This record gives sequence, structure tokens and C-alpha cells, in this order.
Amino acid sequence: MKRLTALILSALIIFSIFPEAVSANDAGEEPDKLIALTFDDGPGAYTEHLLDELDARGVRVTFFMVGRNTTGIFKDLPARELKAGHQLASHSYKHAWLTRYSAGGMKSDLDKTVSAISEAAGGRYKYWLRPPYGAKNNTLLKTAGVPVVMWSVDPYDWKYRDSEVVSDAVISKAKDGDIILLHDIHQTSVEAALIIIDELQKKGFEFVTVTELARRKGQKAEDGTSYSFFRGETIAPRVMEPLVSVSPLPGSGSYAYRVIASEQNGAPVYVSCDGSDPGLCPKTGAVKFSVPADCVLRVIAAYDVNGDRSSEIRIDLHSEDMLK
Ligand code: NI
Repeated sequence: MKRLTALILSALIIFSIFPEAVSANDAGEEPDKLIALTFDDGPGAYTEHLLDELDARGVRVTFFMVGRNTTGIFKDLPARELKAGHQLASHSYKHAWLTRYSAGGMKSDLDKTVSAISEAAGGRYKYWLRPPYGAKNNTLLKTAGVPVVMWSVDPYDWKYRDSEVVSDAVISKAKDGDIILLHDIHQTSVEAALIIIDELQKKGFEFVTVTELARRKGQKAEDGTSYSFFRGETIAPRVMEPLVSVSPLPGSGSYAYRVIASEQNGAPVYVSCDGSDPGLCPKTGAVKFSVPADCVLRVIAAYDVNGDRSSEIRIDLHSEDMLK
């Protein structure tokens, strides 16, 4: 059992490193300053580099993708984005001016976009919408059936194509709750985004997906409603590391372990034991369950697939350990 004990212990140690994440806020200290970076029109030639750099910075963003761009040479990127915890969202199938369509035309374009993104992402999720050109009307809001996301800071990155001009514009204007509009199809915009992240992190800003921004601000994003920012005053709790305990299941007649997993702020816990990414699995209904011996247990906690998630706890389970 030594190895198992050591692993459980390390899971507890991982947990204990993070308690200040929530207590700082609970203690009424400096309030959280949250910002959502959003990237339209991709995936494109600079998206992969952006993803590498976001990974390196531990930052999650939102991608409003053009459906047809997810079917070609960049078709592997949406799955990678999803796995990294970024939010995937719709920007129509071919960057159409949706308000020029009938309701039926809007619906077929949006459905086609959702199918394309789902195919590329490897699962059907709820994709919020940003209409191209920001063109919306009541018919579109109603037809979309999801929250519609506009923006509160637009540095005109597509026009200036200059990373310094664009990053300066955002850094000088950015405030808590903002949604920033950028495009990952321009190299200068990707460079600007990295400057923005590095500078605003120094000023205490935290970068989150749009879904997570709404959740952390205590605001419910309604379907068919458009939002340009989320500045609610209430800050919902952050996701903590899950607590996991594993013990041999007695009298089961076969090798099995009992697993108890929970997150102290009440976030749903996701578990897999078949090698799959737990973040992409349906959440477990219960936090107590048994797993067969000889598997790799993977556990994360997250409020939403598009929200912040805890880092992963991995525990190797071996039937031979049960005999010791
Ligand atoms: Ni666009």
C-alpha cells in the first residue's frame, strides 16, 4: 500500500498549497480583477502559437470560431482548446452578416456551425454566440438560443495590425469585468494578446473565459440575451483542488477500490478511470463510487466545462497493492 499512500498524500499536499486562493477574497482583501480575452474568426495560422503561450501562462480565453475554419487544416485545434480549458464559441459558419438572413437562414447557419465545432471538438457543448460584425437583432437573439457575447474593449486589431498599438489600447482601458475583442487570425493580434496578459497580470488582473467571468461575477448569462461585460459585484468561489481518498473495497469478491472525491466549495467533481480526460467526461452524480483495481484514476473539479478547473489529481491503482 505504500505507493498508494504516498500518492494520496501527494494529492493532499497539492491541495494544501492552494488555500490562499479563496481565503484572500473571503478575508475582504483586494477584490478579484477579472478580464475575458476573446478571439474571433479562427482557428487560423497563429492559433497554435497562441495556445502554446497561453498554456505557458496558465491563461484561459474564449474562441469565437468560424465554423468552416474548424473543418480544414486547423481541425485539430478546437479539441486542443477545449482540453486546455478554453471556451469554444460560435462566430457563424462563414462569417456571415446574420441579420440579413431570415430566421430559418439564421438557424441553419448556426446549427451547421455548432455541428462543425462539435465534430472538431469531439463533443457537443453549449456554444455561445458572437455574431460577425456584432450585427444582431431580436430575431437573431431569439434564434441563437444561447447567450450572445459582444465586447467592452475593441482595439481595432484587424485595422492597426500593430502589436504595440493594440496592446497599449487594451492595457490603458482594461478594467474589471471587461470582455476584450481580438482576432487570432492576425500574428500582430496574438503578439498583442501576450503583451496584454503579461502587463495586466502584473497589475493583478486574472484572465478567465467568458462563462467563468459571468459565474465569478455572480451573474447568470441568459439565453437570447446579449452581454458586453460582466461587472456583477458578487464573486463566486474559485475552484479548489479536489480531495480524493482511495481505499480497498472489502468483501467485493473482486479487486476494487472505493473512491471518495469532493471539492470544498461544492464544485462538481469529474472522474475518469479509462484513460480519458476527466474534464470531458460527464460529471459523476455521486462523489463516492468504486473503481476496478489496476487503473489510473484521474480527478478534476470544475463548475463548468468552460470554466476554471482544478489541476488534475492522478492516482495509479494496482491490484497487487491490495495484497500487501
Ligand atoms: Ni469576425
